[in-house]
Amino acid sequence: PYPIYSVFRKTDPVHWDEGLEAWVLTRYEDVAFVLNDHRFSSDRIAVGRKLHPMPEFEPLFDHLSHLMLQHDEPTHKHLRAIVHDAFTRSAMKRWESVIQYRVDDLLEIAVDLGKMEFLVDFAIPLPVMVISELVGIPIEDRTQVKAWCDDFAFVATNFYAEITDEQLQRGLQSVDAFRKYLRHQAERIAPGADMTLLELMVQSQGTDAEFSYDELIANCMLLLTAGNETTTNLLGNGLIALLENRDQLSRLNKDPSLIPSAVEECLRYDSPLQFVGRIALEEVAIGSRTIRPGDLVLVMLGSANRDPERFPSPDEFDIARPNNHHLAFGHGPHFCVGSQLSRMEATIAFRTLLPHMESMKVKTQDLRHQQNYNLRCFQNIPLKFSQ
Ligand code: HEM
Repeated sequence: PYPIYSVFRKTDPVHWDEGLEAWVLTRYEDVAFVLNDHRFSSDRIAVGRKLHPMPEFEPLFDHLSHLMLQHDEPTHKHLRAIVHDAFTRSAMKRWESVIQYRVDDLLEIAVDLGKMEFLVDFAIPLPVMVISELVGIPIEDRTQVKAWCDDFAFVATNFYAEITDEQLQRGLQSVDAFRKYLRHQAERIAPGADMTLLELMVQSQGTDAEFSYDELIANCMLLLTAGNETTTNLLGNGLIALLENRDQLSRLNKDPSLIPSAVEECLRYDSPLQFVGRIALEEVAIGSRTIRPGDLVLVMLGSANRDPERFPSPDEFDIARPNNHHLAFGHGPHFCVGSQLSRMEATIAFRTLLPHMESMKVKTQDLRHQQNYNLRCFQNIPLKFSQ
């Protein structure tokens, strides 16, 4: 999409798209402005309902309406508190050794075999394991939970833009099955178990509970979802960026302390989530265009991160890029809850993979992207380790 973004940034940065019936914003400054302005609402449920008015989808929209992602202040802040304790700096420290253990385990198998399908064997299971442990999903259920979450992630990222009734129906079935599963799990939790999110949920259930059960379940599912494919894509897109830019890989090999900075550059260069949407609450002028109340506004994070007004030589992959304030995790009140967790996962993963990267062989010209406008990822990444 990057050459197309570039044309829009130059010729029509605040573009009205007839097909999508939405504004498409491609410049960094405009994207950051919209994400931090309360006149643009995160409540997109009404748009979804209008596009898919069938009564059978009502339970799905009801579920979506409990997510922190769909709310503005003050309800947004209230719901975000559900997960606050799980993501403090000290809580994050606890996950470092868990992540390292999982990374070592996954890599050892691949190195022994001399090959791996990077997504299936590494980048998909790693975030699933980490977020499942954080929430408290037992090992034997993780494959099923991941399948439900992928269906839900697709709905949650696309329901107000482009999605078919069949995809919506699939999302609805998965949400339903997942809700039943979580309720069952929560009932089985023994007192004094680890302080997983599931246990915190069970504990907070009382007559004067701060959160409704529906709110807890929905936001728990959001965590499992939001932390999965996005981190997989950071690992997959990041690895390919490094392998396609061998000069940067050698630089990283010489100075591994650049890894955290390289992770930021991977996020900027090929952002896992390409856009987020907002609804205008008031009339707002941006550049020479006037956005009207009720209009859907898609802000293109992937394009903002390649804006030459903000990033010099934006199409170059530079692992030591200074001042790299990209928008891959969003901006403003909804800034990603899991940013530190996924940064930590990528830093540990790339640090551990680094000694093997020079010997990795991938036919990058054969790689294909998945058909998903928003979640940017490859279909598969088969690679071999040369001796
Ligand atoms: C919000 C991206 C990893 C949980 C967001 C937003 C973006 C984003 C762009 C803002 C959405 C908006 O403004 O509407 C990413 C990327 C990730 C990642 C690129 C990985 C590379 C994670 C992880 C978790 C997570 C690991 C959880 C463990 C969330 C949640 C929100 C969110 C709960 C909603 C925050 C709110 O509404 O206040 N993420 N995310 N994300 N992310 Fe992430």
